[in-house]
Amino acid sequence: MIHARDLARTFKTKAGSVEAVRGLSLDVAEGELVAFLGPNGAGKSTALRMLTTLLPPSSGSASVGGHDVVSDPAAVRRQIGYVGQGTGSGPYHRVRDELVSQGRAQRMSTMAARKRADEMLGMLELDGLADRPCASLSGGQKRRLDVALGLMHTPPILFLDEPSTGLDPHSRANLWDHIARLREASGMTIFLTTHYLDEADTMAERVMVIDHGVMIADDTPARLKADLAGDTIHIRLLCNDQLSHAAEIARNLPDAREATAQGRDLAVTLRDGEAVLPEFIRRLHQSGIEAMSARVVRPTLDDVFLGLTGRSLREAVSA
Ligand SMILES: Nc1ncnc2c1ncn2[C@@H]1O[C@H](COP(=O)(O)OP(=O)(O)OP(=O)(O)O)[C@@H](O)[C@H]1O
Ligand SMILES: [Mg+2]
Repeated sequence: MIHARDLARTFKTKAGSVEAVRGLSLDVAEGELVAFLGPNGAGKSTALRMLTTLLPPSSGSASVGGHDVVSDPAAVRRQIGYVGQGTGSGPYHRVRDELVSQGRAQRMSTMAARKRADEMLGMLELDGLADRPCASLSGGQKRRLDVALGLMHTPPILFLDEPSTGLDPHSRANLWDHIARLREASGMTIFLTTHYLDEADTMAERVMVIDHGVMIADDTPARLKADLAGDTIHIRLLCNDQLSHAAEIARNLPDAREATAQGRDLAVTLRDGEAVLPEFIRRLHQSGIEAMSARVVRPTLDDVFLGLTGRSLREAVSA
């Protein structure tokens, strides 16, 4: 549904040129939910704006819904909904009017636009707010309206640029419920950007990590975590005089990547902690080393980003 090859965009500014996206290639299949992750300024919005025909690429090519974004932007636009970063409805219109006028702008008849607006109000639980001015909505309600606006013409592909940024945890979960339900009902392909790693981890089938305009990882969250970060087994020993011997055993475990030891505590990083833990305990026991406690810590997508770039995405985002 979405294909890009060597997509690039350079902005000319007074201070010089900015290479926002530098040779991005990606493929998204029908029905997939893909999350684009990366720190501020990584090029996520620029890439999305090229894929949604809002910005011409400096070089490279892309097709969305079977149409080329440069040579046939109108056909692409009929296939997609786009919810921009912090953009959205006008401040004065009432919620239902805003939806209907969006439908009219998409060349729907007034009757069809009204019918679809009512459907969207129901789907995104905005019914009770239909006659409220858009400006009076809360952040979460407004973001749900943005999604409804993007879906007025029933597109098979939806692009969302940071749909949940700035929402409280409850509103974020609520928005995600709605997006999951829309997907189930329509099998829509969804491509979104987010700074919330936990969201990407639980909601997306595939995560693409972009940094400095370049894709640095593209896989399922589970594989990214196993391949690029790994589990950590933490063991506390009964006596600290056995620590260096235990650390040596840890380093010889299958797939062991890194072992650190301090006091009575040992930590070893490897691909699958739960699978290896019994063998680890057995080898320690054989050497007469007793463990007081053991636990496996699973990685997060932030650990993946840290492994890839040496920086924490959390820090990179708030910096
Ligand atoms: N119109 C523009 N003119 C000049 N530079 C721009 C323009 N739009 C974006 N840039 C620059 O391109 C780079 C990528 O910006 P972009 O908005 O794509 O990042 P992003 O990954 O979406 O970041 P954020 O997480 O903050 O939304 C940044 O350095 C930004 O300053
Ligand atoms: Mg952005």
